[in-house]
Amino acid sequence: MKKKLLAGLLTTAMVATMVAGCGGNTSDTGSNSSSSNTSDGGSQTVGISMPTQSLERWNRDGEYLKEQFEKAGYKVELTYSDNDSGRQVNDIQNMIAADVDLLVVAAIDGAALNTAMDEAADAEIPVISYDRLILNDAVSYYVSFDNYTVGKLQGEYVVEALDLENATTTYNMEFTAGDPADNNAGYFYQGAYDVLKKYIDAGTLKVVSGQVDFDSVATAQWSTDTALDRAQNILGSYYADGTQLDVWLCSNDSTALGVAQAIQSDYSGTNKPIITGQDGDIANLKNIVDGIQTMTVYKNVSNESVVTLALAQAILKGETIDESLCDTFDIECAYDTTSYSTTEGHNCPSFLLVPAVVTKDNLDYLVDTGLYEWDGDYLKSTAE
Ligand code: GAL
Repeated sequence: MKKKLLAGLLTTAMVATMVAGCGGNTSDTGSNSSSSNTSDGGSQTVGISMPTQSLERWNRDGEYLKEQFEKAGYKVELTYSDNDSGRQVNDIQNMIAADVDLLVVAAIDGAALNTAMDEAADAEIPVISYDRLILNDAVSYYVSFDNYTVGKLQGEYVVEALDLENATTTYNMEFTAGDPADNNAGYFYQGAYDVLKKYIDAGTLKVVSGQVDFDSVATAQWSTDTALDRAQNILGSYYADGTQLDVWLCSNDSTALGVAQAIQSDYSGTNKPIITGQDGDIANLKNIVDGIQTMTVYKNVSNESVVTLALAQAILKGETIDESLCDTFDIECAYDTTSYSTTEGHNCPSFLLVPAVVTKDNLDYLVDTGLYEWDGDYLKSTAE
């Protein structure tokens, strides 16, 4: 499959990168598909490798992806690898051995899938890196949300909620970021930090623990328990003397759950600190209704599966892939060829969806997606 050349507009080096998926060294990402097959699905099989079922969202992603691909006539092999990278390599290897036509992979560790990715490249199986970027040039395309913007929205929420532009006092805060193995985690954190840095520098915001570098605030596997333990330690060490905590910026909902628990058990102040999150997990939406968590950045993963299916179909049919793919569905999405690199110098063509802020005041935004419904005072999934 040849992708459209943008020759003439671009330098040779850029063309080499852009026409060839993330790797830049092959122009054929779809040769495993039967080229005569222009109908949907048919006898083709898609292997979907998800990281874990222990975080709510991946259960939703797996279900939506399976449903989308099956509805379009594909056979689906879906695996969860229990947050174990070795197991994910194994799961993907099994799919390659079963001769799947395309792989959709959400990596546990973006840097630990080289063996499986090299085998996929040898077998000429196209790979869509799903949500989290795999740092290997065998990846054909990346589908995700604008990860930097996720963090930016969290930071901007804090700026507005505390009216930091006009603040005459110092607000105290802490950070909890995500899993260092997850390529997204750094983007989320950087997005938030870049917004808040100016207020930290000006003294309007104070990180009382002093822990601001990514490695100090990161949370392996996005674990709720790990986030809880660290938050309890910080509260015990820096806030036990009555120091007021105003904000705890958490990169996602599973860590926000741990931080919220620590605040409930170990914080003696009477104010309700702002707690941010990401994903719109049901437990966190309940905390938002109850005023325990303040906001979440919602990413409609049903839409993410729609975009992934459209991209997979285009790859398998050998179609030209560019920004026009975004016109084939009613979902806001950008084609981005510069923001994400699988290896240095190899930009990965990416389709990036748009995240949204959800607070207590706009929970109906979720109901409007059709994926959530009210169950008394709280929201539940319509899939239940
Ligand atoms: C990220 C993902 C987030 C969140 C987190 C924890 O990679 O983009 O939505 O789910 O992992 O699983």
